[in-house]
Amino acid sequence: MGVDISVSLSGLTLDNPVIPASGCFGYGKEFSELYDINILGSFSIKGTTKHPRFGNPTPRIAETPSGMLNAVGLQNPGIDVVATNHLAYMGRYFNKKVIANISGFSIEEFVYCAQKLDSIEQIGIIEVNISCPNVHGGGIAFGTDANSAAEVTRAVKAVTKKPIYIKLSPNVTDITEIAVACENAGADGLSLINTLLGMRIDLKKRRPLLANKTGGLSGPAVFPVALRMVYQVYEAVKIPIMGMGGISSAADVIEMMMAGASAVQIGAATLKNPYICKEIIERLPLEAERLRITNLKDIIGVAHL
Ligand SMILES: Cc1cc2nc3c(=O)[nH]c(=O)nc-3n(C[C@H](O)[C@H](O)[C@H](O)COP(=O)(O)O)c2cc1C
Repeated sequence: MGVDISVSLSGLTLDNPVIPASGCFGYGKEFSELYDINILGSFSIKGTTKHPRFGNPTPRIAETPSGMLNAVGLQNPGIDVVATNHLAYMGRYFNKKVIANISGFSIEEFVYCAQKLDSIEQIGIIEVNISCPNVHGGGIAFGTDANSAAEVTRAVKAVTKKPIYIKLSPNVTDITEIAVACENAGADGLSLINTLLGMRIDLKKRRPLLANKTGGLSGPAVFPVALRMVYQVYEAVKIPIMGMGGISSAADVIEMMMAGASAVQIGAATLKNPYICKEIIERLPLEAERLRITNLKDIIGVAHL
């Protein structure tokens, strides 16, 4: 008998729990030229803001042991272009529900984006990024304060019928405090983690390697940190969690689900190997079988029992 690898998120059934993470898959178009991306559970689009953003100056990527730093700075053409251009044509190469990742520098900007996306049929979930570490004066400020996180959640929830997943920052002392505040404010689910604030110095130039000085660390190096945070948040809330941070194999997917994730996202690993999500989806039933799992849903949070 085959292994059931389908999962569900707020009433949305996914064929499998594998979701390319925001900022690492564009709008899916380029990847759809490499393989049929309809095998994915879903994917999360590049973070969108009210106004177009050029992003940070270069260099904005640096390698690190078992990971990478990025300071892209939410480069995107703005929500109007994303809605009328990218999302309007996505159906040509992707026939499932997509996750729309939005960000903002004020409550009004988050609300504007959510309102704009509410009527787009193909969007299954709105993922609200209150945790981007690479932009000044916004983003992360909302994600590091429980009251602000709750305020964004309430405001976005009020203008859309779509399920709202708040994307949390790991750059806090107690992530469960923010998670609980978002749940109490009406969040349908949570996505975690975003990148960890880090930096490197160019030894010859004696200057920070990234033009932005600091960047967000992701990739396999952060996996144990992400796993720990998903485990803690699972104990603190009842809403579903999309777990991410350093996942690069089918075994990592299963481990993250055992910690409490209902589905997972894969970021940095996709940049290293554009076929990684396809490979993981193919491997997942075999890995499950090896571990005597017949239904992947049964292992969500099993490490807590
Ligand atoms: C180049 C790059 C760009 C990213 N852009 C976004 C973004 O626009 N919005 C967002 O919510 N997260 C963004 N992220 C964070 C990822 O979605 C993910 O939360 C994080 O990288 C941890 O997963 P990973 O270790 O698998 O990369 C970005 C990450 C990278 C590496």
